[in-house]
Amino acid sequence: MAVVELRDTAVTDDVLVVGLAFKSSKDNKKKTLVIESGDLTLDSASLLEALRDVGAKGVADEIIKLPGTSVRLLVFTGLGKHQKIYPTETLRRAAGAATRNLAGNSRVTLSLPTPDLQSASAVAEGAVLGAYLFTEFRKVTKSDFQTPPEAITVRTPLAREKSAKGIGKRASIIGQYTKLVRDLINTPANELTPISFVEAMKKEVTKAGGTKAGLRVSVLNEKQLLAQGFGGTIGVGQGSANPPRLLHISYTPPKSTLAYGLVGKGITFDTGGLNLKPGLGMEAMKSDMGGAAAVCAATLAIATLKLPIALETWVPLAENMVSDTATRPGDVISIYGGTTVEVLNPDAEGRLILADALVKAAEVGHKGKTLDAIIDVATLTGAQVVALGTRTSAVMTNNEEFSAEFIEAAQESGELFWPMPLPQELRASIDSPVADLANVGERMGGMLVAGLFLREFVPSDLPWVHLDIAGPAHNEAAAHGYTPVGGTGVATRTLIYLVERALS
Ligand code: BES
Ligand code: MN
Ligand code: ZN
Repeated sequence: MAVVELRDTAVTDDVLVVGLAFKSSKDNKKKTLVIESGDLTLDSASLLEALRDVGAKGVADEIIKLPGTSVRLLVFTGLGKHQKIYPTETLRRAAGAATRNLAGNSRVTLSLPTPDLQSASAVAEGAVLGAYLFTEFRKVTKSDFQTPPEAITVRTPLAREKSAKGIGKRASIIGQYTKLVRDLINTPANELTPISFVEAMKKEVTKAGGTKAGLRVSVLNEKQLLAQGFGGTIGVGQGSANPPRLLHISYTPPKSTLAYGLVGKGITFDTGGLNLKPGLGMEAMKSDMGGAAAVCAATLAIATLKLPIALETWVPLAENMVSDTATRPGDVISIYGGTTVEVLNPDAEGRLILADALVKAAEVGHKGKTLDAIIDVATLTGAQVVALGTRTSAVMTNNEEFSAEFIEAAQESGELFWPMPLPQELRASIDSPVADLANVGERMGGMLVAGLFLREFVPSDLPWVHLDIAGPAHNEAAAHGYTPVGGTGVATRTLIYLVERALS
């Protein structure tokens, strides 16, 4: 993944990226282009002429490449409507769109408006996030794809300031761990199983410094899960030749005032089980471990950034398959802690493994103390996509204050999260005639029903948010801004921002 740094010296790279915005006349009939190159002066008059000639509009996601004079290639990235101060997410996306379109150029400099540190930070972040390409499984066609930029420079006068120190490094770390999430999601399920997911995370923990960095890993295998009563994870995983796991990563900084629990849904493939999903598009269910990848990567990033908040990260991993050993509709399983669940629909498997992990996370806490808050992240329901579309994730909670805190963090990270209710009238629909609970209920509002199911497994006095990222985790449409096709890495950054906010 790309590395980014801030500099205020002359541009030495061959490729220079600047912004391009538009202004509309009062009657809206005429649009004029505005070059936004920060404090760098360019020969605007002749460039604007050339830009008009090639039909540039200055809209978001537009990339115009012109041969330069002082640099080899001058790249204009659309900022949309001209503004005195651009929102950080506008800058992040524009920077990302540029680097995403500059594969084949190893070094790139960006000069965009950076009136403050947040703006400079957003440009750096967007630029590394956009410099991503997944070619792991190409062999013959690999050479058709060029490498994305590796060394990125954000040109800004703020680079001189003491408070700007660390911005480049932080953005590089965020880029590195977002890449990890995207790579895991893009890896096919024959390669990424519960066991190989665990192995990959063990390696990542070592790479991040292991115990020296305050990171510890432990794993429960299928025998231990069975013996200790993790009936949700066992029930979902028992139809597969790839046995389930429960991964636990803890991060203990030298000093911490808060301890958060993180739980991520780790279904390495979701066929729907005996409630088999239709074939069309089923391949996308390799992304059903997007929540697991996000919480692991966020934990590693937070440890690498040495943030003083303790994390207890729990990741139940299973493959939801069809076989003679798979859980049948109507089977009753027992979640860790003893609550029984009638599995009316084996395709509602995420909530079963999450229930196990939520109970365990709250029980273990941190160093013998209760957690201050817990967050679960899951590609949980198709209903999420119906309700909010493919780019906006849902937030459900038992604590409005904590949820508001999370949503504010999301507004800073630029990730789209929207609050959703947990309506009490839907709760009765998951009563079962034979067990304590049923795993599905009312179909209308299915995302909220899933949230209500999970709430049953969280102590009512423990602040909890549930993030349903079913749509946004995996981009099946075109790339845009800093978001590639395939795994997006969503939720990772907001978790990092949330921890940073909790400290300030
Ligand atoms: N992994 C799916 C949810 C999903 C759907 C994720 C689309 C990403 C894109 C989940 O396990 C599932 O199958 N949910 C069911 C629940 C239903 C049976 C209550 C669904 O949404 O259809
Ligand atoms: Mn499912
Ligand atoms: Zn699933």
